[in-house]
Amino acid sequence: MKTLRLIPAIALAGLLFSYTAIAQNYQAAIDNAYSKYKDLKEGANADYIKELANVDPDIYGIAIVTTDGKVYSKGDLSSRVSIQSISKVFTLAKILEEQGPQAIMDKIGVDATGLRFNSIVAIELQKGKEINPLVNPGAIAAVSLINGADSAAKWRNIQQVHNEFAGSTLLVNGPVYVSEAGDNLRNQAIAHLLLAYGRMYFDPVQATDVYTKQCALNVNAKDLAVMAATLANGGTNPVTKKKVVSPETAAYTMSVMETAGLYDNAGQWLFKTGVPAKSGVGGGIIAAVPGKFGIAVISPPLDAAGNSVKAQRTIEAIIAELKANPNLVMPK
Ligand code: DON
Repeated sequence: MKTLRLIPAIALAGLLFSYTAIAQNYQAAIDNAYSKYKDLKEGANADYIKELANVDPDIYGIAIVTTDGKVYSKGDLSSRVSIQSISKVFTLAKILEEQGPQAIMDKIGVDATGLRFNSIVAIELQKGKEINPLVNPGAIAAVSLINGADSAAKWRNIQQVHNEFAGSTLLVNGPVYVSEAGDNLRNQAIAHLLLAYGRMYFDPVQATDVYTKQCALNVNAKDLAVMAATLANGGTNPVTKKKVVSPETAAYTMSVMETAGLYDNAGQWLFKTGVPAKSGVGGGIIAAVPGKFGIAVISPPLDAAGNSVKAQRTIEAIIAELKANPNLVMPK
C-alpha cells in the first residue's frame, strides 16, 4: 500500500526535476551564447534608411518564450528597434487567415527568389509572378491585398494582427517611418512595376506607405520572442492565450519563413538550424521551433545580405546547444 502511495509522489518529483532541468537548459543556452558573442563587432547598421544608422549598434538582447508561456532572457530587453521585414511574416499570416492559402499562391506566390530582398530583377525574371511575401515586392503586394477598404482600414488590420501576435500594443517609430517614407523610391518603383504586371491589388503609393509604416513598428526582444512563440504554438499566443490565427495558418507561415526568411541566405540558414526564421534590417531576427519555443535576438549590425550578424550566430548557437533543430532526430 505504502509503495503504491509513493508512486505518484515519485512521478511528481520526476516531473518537477525535469521541468527545472529544462528551465536551466534554456537559461544556460542563452547565457552561454550571450557571453560568447557579446563582444563580436562584425557587420554594420543599415544606412539606406538614414535613421537606422543612428541606432546604438551595441544593443544586444536575447529572449526565448516557450509554448507554455515561460520567458527566459538576457541582455537588453528594454531597447526597442523597428521591426522592419519581420513584420512581413504577420501580414502574411493575416492574409492566409482571412483569404486562405490559395490567394497567396495565386496572387503573390511562395517560391524563393534567391535574390536580394529588394531585387527588381527578381520581379522581371518572373514577370511579377512568384514574388515571395517575405521579400519587398511580395510584401508590398501583400499590404495591397490585405483586407481593408482603404489604407486606414488596411493599416488597422495590420496593426491589430501585430498587437495580437505580440500580446501588447506596438507603436510606430516616428523618426524611422518619416526617414524611410521620404526615401523609399525603390519600393515605390517595385510597387509600380507590380502594378504594370497586374500584381498590385490597391493603390501602389498608398500600399507602399502602409508597408513602410508596418516596417517602423517598434519592438524589443521579448515582443519579438512572443510573436515567434505564437507561431511555434500553432497560432495561439502562449502568454495571452488568445488564438491569433489557426494552426494551419501558422504552419503555412512558417513554411514561407523556411524558404525565404533570411533572403538569399535562407538556404544556408536552414541547413545550419532547420528552423523557420525571419530577419529585419532593424537588427532583429525571430525563429520559431514548432511546438517548443520562439526565440528573438536584437543586434543592429548586419551582414551583406541584410541579416543581423550577432542575432544569426546567437540563435544558431542556442538551437545547437538545445538540440532544437526539428530535423535532428535521435534514432529509437
Ligand atoms: O523595405 C525595406 O527595405 C525595409 N523597410 C525592410 C527591409 C528589411 O528589413 C530587409 N531585412 N532584412
